[in-house]
Amino acid sequence: MSVEIDLRGKVAIVTGSSSGLGRSIAEYLSMAGASVVINYRKEKDKADEITQQILKNGGKAICVQADVSKIDDVQRLFETTDQQLGPADILVNNAGIDGKRQMCGDDDPAEWERVIGINLLGPYYCTREAVKRMTVKKSGVIINITSDHEFVPWSGYSAYSSSKAGLSMFTKTLAQEVAENNIRVISVAPGAIKTPINEDVWGNPDSLRDLLKKVAMPRLGEVDDIGKAVAFLCSDLASYITGVTLPVDGGMLLYPDFKHGG
Ligand code: BGC
Repeated sequence: MSVEIDLRGKVAIVTGSSSGLGRSIAEYLSMAGASVVINYRKEKDKADEITQQILKNGGKAICVQADVSKIDDVQRLFETTDQQLGPADILVNNAGIDGKRQMCGDDDPAEWERVIGINLLGPYYCTREAVKRMTVKKSGVIINITSDHEFVPWSGYSAYSSSKAGLSMFTKTLAQEVAENNIRVISVAPGAIKTPINEDVWGNPDSLRDLLKKVAMPRLGEVDDIGKAVAFLCSDLASYITGVTLPVDGGMLLYPDFKHGG
C-alpha cells in the first residue's frame, strides 16, 4: 500500500500565483491532480507562462486577473471559475505584500490601508465567496498564508504583522463557523523563504547572514517547502486538521539565538 496526495477532481483557486509562494502552491496542487486557477493582479506574462506550463504538463489551469482587495474583482474571479472549471473546492489566500518599511507616527496611513486591503480584506472577500460554494457541497479547504510575523513583532512593518495576526484569528474564527459543513480552515506561516518579496534581503550578503542567524536550520526556505505543505493540508491526509497555524519556517520560531546561552 502506498500513500499519495490525491486532489483529482478538485478545483483550487490560488490568489497571487504568478510568482513566489503562490506559483509553487499552484504547481503542487496541479501535480496532485487539482484544476487550478492562476490569479494575478499585474504580472500577466508570468501568470500566462505558469498556466501554459501546467497545461503542457498535462494539468488543467486557467488564468484570471483580479485584485483581491476589490470586492467586485473577487466576485468576478469566483464566477469565472464557476463557469470554466466549476465551483472552488480549495481556496488558498496567498496574495500578499510586505508594504513599505515605515515607523508609526512617521508614516503614510494610505500605505497601512493598502497592506490591510490586500493581506486581510482580500482573504476575507475571497473566503466569503468560497464559503458560499463550499457550504452547498458540504466540503472544502481554505488555506490562509500568514507569516511567522503573525507571532513575531517586526519593527517598521506594523501593518504587515497586524494583517497576518488578524488573518490568523480569521482562520480560527472561521474554522469554528464552518466546521459543521466539513470545511477546514488552516493557516500556513512561512518563515524566511526566498521569494521576490524579500529579494533585497537575501540578495545582499550582509543581510543574508543576519537573516540566517534567525533560522535554526542552516538554510533559508525554498518556495517548494511551502507548496508541499499546502498540498498536504488540502488533501484527505490532513482530514482532521482545522483552525490551526502550521509554521513552515525551518525553526525560526525556536529563538535560535538561545542556542548560545540565555
Ligand atoms: C516576510 C519576509 C521576511 C520573513 C522573515 C516574511 O513574512 O515576507 O520578507 O524575510 O517574513 O522575517
